[in-house]
Amino acid sequence: MIAKDRLIFPLDVPDAQEARKHVALLGEHVGVFKIGLELFVAEGPAIVDTIADLTDAGIFLDLKFHDIPATVQRAIRSGSCIRRANFVTVHCDPSLLEAVAAEVSDHTKVLAVTVLTSLHTRQLTALGIQPELAEEVVKLVVQRARIAREAGCAGVVCSGHEVRAVKEEYGDDLLVVTPGIRPEWGDVSKDDQRRIVTPYQAVRNGADYIVVGRPIRAATDPVEAASMVVNEIQRGLEDRDQVA
Ligand code: C5P
Repeated sequence: MIAKDRLIFPLDVPDAQEARKHVALLGEHVGVFKIGLELFVAEGPAIVDTIADLTDAGIFLDLKFHDIPATVQRAIRSGSCIRRANFVTVHCDPSLLEAVAAEVSDHTKVLAVTVLTSLHTRQLTALGIQPELAEEVVKLVVQRARIAREAGCAGVVCSGHEVRAVKEEYGDDLLVVTPGIRPEWGDVSKDDQRRIVTPYQAVRNGADYIVVGRPIRAATDPVEAASMVVNEIQRGLEDRDQVA
């Protein structure tokens, strides 16, 4: 994998027309396009084929499934869009993850969502998470990474603050995808992300892939922004190899 392959760009746009524009603009500059709820609900499952037919980049279908195992398993089985995707996301629940991991082929990697990067201690406590875990989110994330690993998932999604702990525990046995990336040079100021790091820090800490949306989409020159992110990924890889 080269540095660019590790950059995931979310197509957080309202319709296929906008999505196509971003794929045409960034197709050579990112490794994976992520289709999330907004685009999927607007356009339906056919959007996966539409995007996959336009690009050699990978496809990440980020629907963050969360229901009883039998229901999600049937949804996974029924969708050719799932088979076309290289990554799908499922919330972290042991029997749900097991059911999904057993259902997909090696082509489709199941990623368990550990703790959303928009959440912080106060919100986690309000959700009923034990205070000691809410205060040290890293412990909660590592606990959920263990669940994901034992269930047979290919990887997890977690913030750049927790990557190192997950990698120390599982190394190459568990892929880590890190959203909540904010480059120092970006001008996305107040938004909903909380546990943020720069592209360099995320990769240096061990992330296999990073998700970078608004800092690229909102840049005056998105192609230049994407290539600046790729440069940071490259530096992060070099520095972490030196330590290893
Ligand atoms: O870089 P930006 O904040 O715009 O990226 C937002 C994207 O990252 C969204 O598509 C969102 O679903 C995704 N994401 C996230 N936190 C997670 C998992 C995915 O922000 N834990």
